[in-house]
Amino acid sequence: MTPARTLVLEDPTAEVAERLARTAGGGGHVALTGGSTPRVAYERAAALGADWSGATLWFGDDRCVPPDNEHSNYGMAKGALIDRLPEPPAAVHRIEGERGPDVGARAYEETLREAFGDGVPRLDLVLLGLGPDAHCASLFPRDEALTEQDRWAVGVNTPGMAPFVARVTLTLPVLNAAREVVFLVTGEDKAGAARRAFSGVADADAPASLVSPEEGSLTLVFDRSAASRLREPTEAP
Ligand code: 6PG
Repeated sequence: MTPARTLVLEDPTAEVAERLARTAGGGGHVALTGGSTPRVAYERAAALGADWSGATLWFGDDRCVPPDNEHSNYGMAKGALIDRLPEPPAAVHRIEGERGPDVGARAYEETLREAFGDGVPRLDLVLLGLGPDAHCASLFPRDEALTEQDRWAVGVNTPGMAPFVARVTLTLPVLNAAREVVFLVTGEDKAGAARRAFSGVADADAPASLVSPEEGSLTLVFDRSAASRLREPTEAP
């Protein structure tokens, strides 16, 4: 486990776009996040002109809605990134949330098993966002999904934040097995959550604090507003 690297940048989405394109261009397994923050990073990643044809895309979580629903994380990533790539990725494994949280989670876990075998999947890059309640993926404060040790994906029936539709999420064992985890966090409304999540104390009230890759790197990419209440000194770019 290595300490987190904290970057406070004028242009955090450019940093994330480059990291996505680099790993995808190297034929890596990349897990995308949902929410509104990453959209611009996805658009910019697509515009970088990398060759994603060897990449495999996954999702850290999704809402239990059809892929063309406005709340679908896959739908957002499709429009902002996947459909803009000159060549399609080798594979795009979306979470079939429309099958419901339990069936959708089991199907996704099966897809992970087909790709990675029986050991815990080792994704090359997992991109995560941070909610104002310090959740990440669909791991909400004090939810039972936080204690899951065996399953790789689980259904979440009662998300702690809007949209209040059931979710499917990767679990902490998968997030913490990744080679690289990157959080993209922007905006004043995330400053309090960032302080709670990234102060170095693991706390089920702030689920993002439980993300700590065992043999991988953790990079926190902030704009100035989101970083304004961090306790730790931050690094220049
Ligand atoms: C989701 C997410 C979630 C998201 C945060 C931040 O499906 O809702 O994957 O974990 O990253 O809620 O979302 P915003 O970028 O919209 O603030």
